[in-house]
Amino acid sequence: MPHDRTDRPVPPVTLEEITDDNWRAVADVAPTDDQRRFVAALGARYLLLSMRGGVWNSLGVRAGDAVVGHVMWAVDEADGSHWIGGMIIDAAEQGKGLGRATMHALIRRLAALPDCREIRLSYHPDNVPAARLYASLGFTPTGEREDDELVAALPVVRDTP
Ligand SMILES: CC(C)(COP(=O)(O)OP(=O)(O)OC[C@H]1O[C@@H](n2cnc3c(N)ncnc32)[C@H](O)[C@@H]1OP(=O)(O)O)[C@@H](O)C(=O)NCCC(=O)NCCS
Repeated sequence: MPHDRTDRPVPPVTLEEITDDNWRAVADVAPTDDQRRFVAALGARYLLLSMRGGVWNSLGVRAGDAVVGHVMWAVDEADGSHWIGGMIIDAAEQGKGLGRATMHALIRRLAALPDCREIRLSYHPDNVPAARLYASLGFTPTGEREDDELVAALPVVRDTP
């Protein structure tokens, strides 16, 4: 997929809890074949992780009438950091600004939680689109690794009362 950098407006997306109505569409969200080395082959894998693991919280990404992606978040009880993971925009919907819109929406949601001081995520060093997206949002590498992925963090700045 060619990528043309644009200053296009961010399209509206809604982050949805997983329900009886949307879980099938979220489960079917799939990256391109060559992106499967970076993420699960289907949103279904992350939905099951959220259901069975008790750590991650899956969300569906809706644009208009369609479910276009999956993303999930968690809190690391050890240090209180908030994590974003399982980010997939469906292959057919990539390159339209939806990944950026999803990150904006989830960062806003997490930053509104009273105990959120830092948001973390990780990505494979070869995952150029993800690295560029996260860097453009202010995430900076911490120098740590999670398995074969680089960890990056975004401080949550709060207005002083
Ligand atoms: C990474 C991903 C979520 C981006 O979603 P998207 O909707 O295609 O991205 P957007 O159209 O919102 O673009 C946002 C930014 O991502 C980067 N980007 C997106 N596609 C890119 C590409 N093909 N090449 C380089 N940078 C790219 C750019 O920085 C872009 O900003 P710009 O348009 O101002 O240059 C999507 O490619 C995806 O689902 N990939 C497979 C799963 C994955 O790797 N998830 C991340 C795991 S850490």
